[in-house]
Amino acid sequence: MQTSLMETKNISVFENYDALVAATADLFVKLAEDAIKERGKFVTSLSGGSTPKGFYSRLAEKEIASRVDWSKVVVFFGDERTVPYTSAESNQRMITEHLLSKVALNRENVFALSDPDMDPKQTAIDYERTMHEFFRLSGDELPQFDFMLLGLGDDGHTASLFPGSPALAETRRWFVDNQVEQLNSVRLTTTYPVINNSRNIIFLASGKGKAGVLKDVLTGPEGKYPSQNVKAENGKLYWYLDKDIASEL
Ligand code: 6PG
Repeated sequence: MQTSLMETKNISVFENYDALVAATADLFVKLAEDAIKERGKFVTSLSGGSTPKGFYSRLAEKEIASRVDWSKVVVFFGDERTVPYTSAESNQRMITEHLLSKVALNRENVFALSDPDMDPKQTAIDYERTMHEFFRLSGDELPQFDFMLLGLGDDGHTASLFPGSPALAETRRWFVDNQVEQLNSVRLTTTYPVINNSRNIIFLASGKGKAGVLKDVLTGPEGKYPSQNVKAENGKLYWYLDKDIASEL
């Protein structure tokens, strides 16, 4: 891979998945330390799917977890499926099982979505209100997350911003329900205005199966994939990859 691409896109490639998730945990620790020192808290938006499971488990390991002041960590969920918390598909359940249940967070700093399997429109409205109440901003100010963790789908989606879905065009709301025709389901997702205002956006992606879409996303024409619309407008964007997914770069 050309050095210039690695530098311009801030790409880090790790030997394998274990090295990738270990490095992502180290980045979390560093960014948490900086944020807590500067602003007294570390506000995160955590992603679902399968890739981050190893990251969450690594972060929960004693020798890593002990390096984070969890009492100052705030957790939001970047996106969710419209399923009950008890579902194996639930991002909140996965993140809770792999991380939140294992570290000493203050419960009032973890913001769950109300019944994602109920009325998605209302759930999105409720969660957006929760975000407004937490960030307490005025006018058109946007919330700024310190750690916005994102994955990459094999169709180039990220969060629950899928190709052709209405939420791609959302420019004002912070969190919306999103009809995803290709899944025949409704998803709940943070929108681009909020994602792109983050201090740190971290794409965590791995696996040979996504090498082609990653190459297209990073080197192909813009505007083809939802993940290409993620821009660090007020912070830094990191691509944290393993060698398999980076093999076509
Ligand atoms: C979700 C995620 C989604 C995920 C990608 C990659 O709710 O599924 O937020 O955006 O990050 O689909 O998923 P995998 O890590 O399982 O490949």
